[in-house]
Amino acid sequence: MDWNHLDNVWLPYAQMKTMRPPLPVVGTQGCRIVLADGRELIDGIASWWTACHGYNHPHIRQAVERQLAAMPHVMFGGLVHEQALTLAKRLAALLPGDLERVFFSESGSVAVEIAMKMAVQYWLNKDERGRTKFVAFKGGYHGDTTGAMAVSDNGEGMHAMLAGALPEHFAMNLPLDASSEAALSAFIKVHGEEIAGIIVEPLVQGAGGMRFHDEAVLRRLRETADRYDCLLIFDEIFTGFGRTGTMFACEAAGVVPDIVTLSKALSGGTLPLAATVARRKVFEAFWSDDPKAALMHGPTYMGNPLACAAANASLDLFEREPRLAQVKAISEQMTQELARCRDLPGISDVRVKGAIGVVELERIDDLSAMRARFVEQGVFIRPFGNVVYLAPSFTIRPDELTVLTSAIKAVLGAR
Ligand SMILES: Cc1ncc(COP(=O)(O)O)c(C=O)c1O
Repeated sequence: MDWNHLDNVWLPYAQMKTMRPPLPVVGTQGCRIVLADGRELIDGIASWWTACHGYNHPHIRQAVERQLAAMPHVMFGGLVHEQALTLAKRLAALLPGDLERVFFSESGSVAVEIAMKMAVQYWLNKDERGRTKFVAFKGGYHGDTTGAMAVSDNGEGMHAMLAGALPEHFAMNLPLDASSEAALSAFIKVHGEEIAGIIVEPLVQGAGGMRFHDEAVLRRLRETADRYDCLLIFDEIFTGFGRTGTMFACEAAGVVPDIVTLSKALSGGTLPLAATVARRKVFEAFWSDDPKAALMHGPTYMGNPLACAAANASLDLFEREPRLAQVKAISEQMTQELARCRDLPGISDVRVKGAIGVVELERIDDLSAMRARFVEQGVFIRPFGNVVYLAPSFTIRPDELTVLTSAIKAVLGAR
């Protein structure tokens, strides 16, 4: 295998001309990534936060293998199958309130697009015209497709260059306190008739900078959405499935959003899968004798049986194994061990929520050099912007987690 032959791939978030060559991977096991030269890296970010049970969990692998033998794929239009029906039922039972209608897709960004389309059509189906805008929040990130980019923070974010080419929505400050809450409320009072919904990443703004807020913010958003009759969308693509300490972030706040998006850890980090889940009242606006009131959406691979089998197996593991207790233990260990970074030069904040640990720097001059230094330490950690963060598998052993936190201290201390 010629690992240097990169002439035919286009890699993500990379300036292909100047980037350092990517690391060739030949295997994954537990919390480790095995490189072609035999080195093993302890993974600090679980493949973009997906591999919540570690890699190659035998229970998920066996479920996928069984499904592969029976039926790798069948279209979901006009046909249904056991894995998708079971998964939808289990998700509806796990999510709070009457979040009970599950629309499957294959990536987080598409789940967000579907949520936005549902929200806009919800109002059209109720004969309320003109509600096509969304309130989104500064620092937010919802994906890389056009609609999702348009509700992401493009001011400082990764899509800044495309900002002029995207539909315009309303970017507000999160209602962190009374004055930002009043500003949000006043804005929505004026623009309510244009607004289809409010979209937020509950408790953690992830790719926008790993910023945390508390449960009260989500309760304020619920109140505001209710007061001005807007739909409330929680993008739980990062926070769902235990990452912040409860199965879903909305649970911690006791808030039921009108639509929730899920992906990433949904399939336990094995196969691409996403879901947009709607409350009964949202679905009811589409339930009609009029064919035009239907949701006209249907990704080719939606409800893929392999991915749904993986997700069902992943949910079995959440039931059988003490995942939320593991998140709590990871949280406590990271709180203790990352605190040692506080006194290093150039550190502006150290914070932990659930199984997310963040060391924020005043700035990082050369991200790619820093990433390479982590590899030299035997770990895979991918700082971005001005943050170095951990979002490991929940099955990581305490000694492996210590290797990660020690690597952060060593790399940041040597700057
Ligand atoms: C909160 C949130 N929403 C949406 C997305 C987009 O998901 P995907 O990369 O699967 O399209 C991400 C990805 O990081 C995310 O963190």
